[in-house]
Amino acid sequence: METSCHLLSTVFFIITITVFGLVQSQNDGSDRGLVGAPGSTIQVSVSDPTLQKVVRFAEGRYNVGSNGIYLRRVTKIVSASKQVVKGVKYSLVVELGNTLCKKTAALADLAICEFHADPNKLKTEVCLFEIWDIPWQSKSTVLKQKCQPAAPTKETNKIETLPTSPSTPDEESVELLSAFKEFVTKYNRSYSSQEEADKRLRIFQENLQTAQILQSLDQGSAEYGVTKFSDLTEEEFRSLYLNPLLSQQNLHRPLKPAGPARNPAPPSWDWREHGAVSPVKNQGMCGSCWAFSVTGNIEGQWFLKRGELLSLSEQELVDCDRLDQACGGGLPSNAYEAIEKLGGLETETDYTYTGHKQSCDFSTGKVAAYINSSVELSKDENEIAAWLAENGPVSVALNAFAMQFYRKGVSHPLKIFCNPWMIDHAVLLVGYGDRNGTPFWAIKNSWGEDYGEEGYYYLYRGSRLCGINKMCSSAVVN
Ligand SMILES: *[C@@H]1O[C@H](CO)[C@@H](O)[C@H](O)[C@H]1NC(C)=O
Ligand SMILES: *[C@@H]1O[C@H](CO)[C@@H](O)[C@H](O)[C@H]1NC(C)=O
Repeated sequence: METSCHLLSTVFFIITITVFGLVQSQNDGSDRGLVGAPGSTIQVSVSDPTLQKVVRFAEGRYNVGSNGIYLRRVTKIVSASKQVVKGVKYSLVVELGNTLCKKTAALADLAICEFHADPNKLKTEVCLFEIWDIPWQSKSTVLKQKCQPAAPTKETNKIETLPTSPSTPDEESVELLSAFKEFVTKYNRSYSSQEEADKRLRIFQENLQTAQILQSLDQGSAEYGVTKFSDLTEEEFRSLYLNPLLSQQNLHRPLKPAGPARNPAPPSWDWREHGAVSPVKNQGMCGSCWAFSVTGNIEGQWFLKRGELLSLSEQELVDCDRLDQACGGGLPSNAYEAIEKLGGLETETDYTYTGHKQSCDFSTGKVAAYINSSVELSKDENEIAAWLAENGPVSVALNAFAMQFYRKGVSHPLKIFCNPWMIDHAVLLVGYGDRNGTPFWAIKNSWGEDYGEEGYYYLYRGSRLCGINKMCSSAVVN
């Protein structure tokens, strides 16, 4: 039992790395039901147009900072992921090589510079870039750049050396050791201790055995064998190279359904005009949108039940909500549960936002607002509007792609740019109405007051755009 479970997980590991290495371009996810926790890291398709822009930016910065003779250009995007923060944080792993253009050529011409044909002159490097992009300010920043020479280009993945037939332990270990030695040389591995090296050898062996099984079962043209990931366990691989996209099922803890509104929705409503909304806040470079969405909702609920508008603490959730991932994303449904367990929220002043996870410093004595339960709203936009007008601002989540480029007006992106299944950001619905006949949702964002219209985003209402109707919820204060 134990063995087969283990085997399964290792098989999965190899499939993952094979997909990753060989067919990554098919991984655009456009029609799959991927709902990540708002704020979490998401894999980006290599063909994504914004990714191309980010890659060009990274190339430019790389060339400005390098002291080589030739301009260098990306030969291959190995992997790319993004996370919605204030703007978007991209993580790219790319290969770069020398072009025939000398460093004296204008950077603008880079796209037409051809690569050196000779691998020794191409001098391929693998680089990790982290880029922080704030499109509405036309601002990009390199947060991290780490490069190392790529392994020699010879691509022989197939393992023919390992015996499949029973062999004496000695023969086997000689084969294994020589394959491992080759791997260590090819990928320039160094291990801190003998123990570590032994452990890596065992992982390497397991991965190779799995690769052989896969090879024998494969009915297509895939090849399996040693890759640069061969000394990593599945878990290590996933955390280093894949997005921590949450499992697609069990993601959304079912909440109690909210009772329907008593009356139909009035033509328009805006909770800002009724004092239920605190000033716009700023999540900074942390995937904590979910915490801002939830505090915004509770601020409204507390105001409507207790008559006092407080500004509540997101940092308490970042530090103390163990059901969510702090700056790595989270779900409003989890956050309500965590707040109930903690006993309530402190104010913004008592538990100030820092934008990174710290140890939990919550004290029950400072609780300023509590909640008693939480509810999930209908997915019908008219019913959501009616509920909002009667009960207060609503926590929602959506695909934030269009938000990245938004300046003002009512945004109505094409569906293909705003896949309702790729939810990556959580915000607060504070009202709705019509602007010159165009129905909209008024959305409080958490990217500062200099974003959009004084910190707000207006999205077309009535065609479930960007998945805006998919994750609507509210806390309940008794
Ligand atoms: C190999 O790795 C070591 C440290 O891990 C580094 O100092 C060295 O430059 C690397 N060599 C190559 C050829 O990548
Ligand atoms: C709501 O929760 C608060 C704090 O946990 C508690 O003191 C209060 O009794 C609850 N109210 C109801 C009606 O359950």
